[in-house]
Amino acid sequence: MSRSVEPPRVLNIEDLRRAAKRRLPRVVFDYVDGGAEDELTLRANCRAFQAVTFQPRCAVATPACDLRITVLDTPLSMPLILAPVGSSRLIYPRGEEAAARAAGAAGIAYALSTLSGCHLEDVAATSKAPVWYQLYLVGGRDCALSAIERAKAAGFSALVVTIDTAVAGMRERDLRNGVKELLSGNLWSMLPFVSQLLTKPRWLAGFIADGGLMKFPNVVVPGKGPMLYADVTAALEQSVVTWEDLKWIGQAWNGRIVIKGIHTSDDARRAVDAGASALVVSNHGGRQLDGVAPTLRILPEVVASVGDRIEILFDGGIRRGSDIIKALCLGARAVMVGRAYAYGLGAAGGLGVARAIEILRTDLVRTLKLLGCAYIAELDRSYVDVPTDWPVP
Ligand SMILES: Cc1cc2nc3c(=O)[nH]c(=O)nc-3n(C[C@H](O)[C@H](O)[C@H](O)COP(=O)(O)O)c2cc1C
Repeated sequence: MSRSVEPPRVLNIEDLRRAAKRRLPRVVFDYVDGGAEDELTLRANCRAFQAVTFQPRCAVATPACDLRITVLDTPLSMPLILAPVGSSRLIYPRGEEAAARAAGAAGIAYALSTLSGCHLEDVAATSKAPVWYQLYLVGGRDCALSAIERAKAAGFSALVVTIDTAVAGMRERDLRNGVKELLSGNLWSMLPFVSQLLTKPRWLAGFIADGGLMKFPNVVVPGKGPMLYADVTAALEQSVVTWEDLKWIGQAWNGRIVIKGIHTSDDARRAVDAGASALVVSNHGGRQLDGVAPTLRILPEVVASVGDRIEILFDGGIRRGSDIIKALCLGARAVMVGRAYAYGLGAAGGLGVARAIEILRTDLVRTLKLLGCAYIAELDRSYVDVPTDWPVP
């Protein structure tokens, strides 16, 4: 393990966040760290965990805590999945492969974003555990169909369809840091923003050695080739996924579908009607519509409405294993994390991702023991107290 992410230097995810901030240029760190508009939902996602308190059972022996679960009938070593994080290759050379490899070594699933810098085939080949492919319709239907075919052939075991990205959220940090100008290719426009790259020579050297600004090798537009970085924002606006689209997507994939971006029990029921095998209660980590409720607060009502018909996954604001336990107590089968591992990637590549996973795993074991619960599958609402003003299903 790289000394830079070993204890006592790195004990928790916040330590990895600080290490990522030291290594990454501001424009890249803020891309990972930031959220939409006033970042109300970003902060609320994390704060919601503080509002839920534990009710432990003390003086209970828990000799070996069993973290194993199955998701979509696939065994995972713990209830954790690495969420799709677009452009991970900007965070670290061959970032998606590094993250998938670390997930595979830990026996957990990795979800690859459509907007990734590495070829989906290379990512699938690098992991020993299940890999899922996250679909956006950027580039149009034919482009999506060809990615679906490639993902099937490469062995991805589930298709994650993200439904909360009708347009990109208003991420003001990105604009202030000059993302548009830096992508413009126009030297004169880029000039005021280049110094943030030059002050992080380790990152810059890795970025250049990795081929510089990537194209999107899994968004191959018919007749044009891989989509350019600068074209993505406009492409997202023309590519909203609708419930109608889920029909042809389901037919083309002909396998397990996970719908990501469920904010209400109404949409949860639609996901069931659309034939999904799982859904993710997710607000994209506060990066899309600012001002929506924190995901932990809406999880119980989604579980109450469809929990017996579909597997319910959860993401948003998880920074500690105890957060994972709280989500499981409120009915999630497993959780996804985005920033928690992206900070690790930014700090030290695959070693940093492995460290993030290890931190969360040891947190899980410790928290289970302190709660007096030996099996992850036995967690339920009786282990937590939920604020009285939360919607009670
Ligand atoms: C830098 C970054 C990029 C992301 N890119 C995608 C993406 O391409 N597709 C997607 O469905 N979700 C994307 N997400 C959202 C994550 O999959 C996940 O929903 C979110 O990060 C969960 O919140 P957390 O970061 O608090 O764990 C991204 C998140 C981050 C932080």
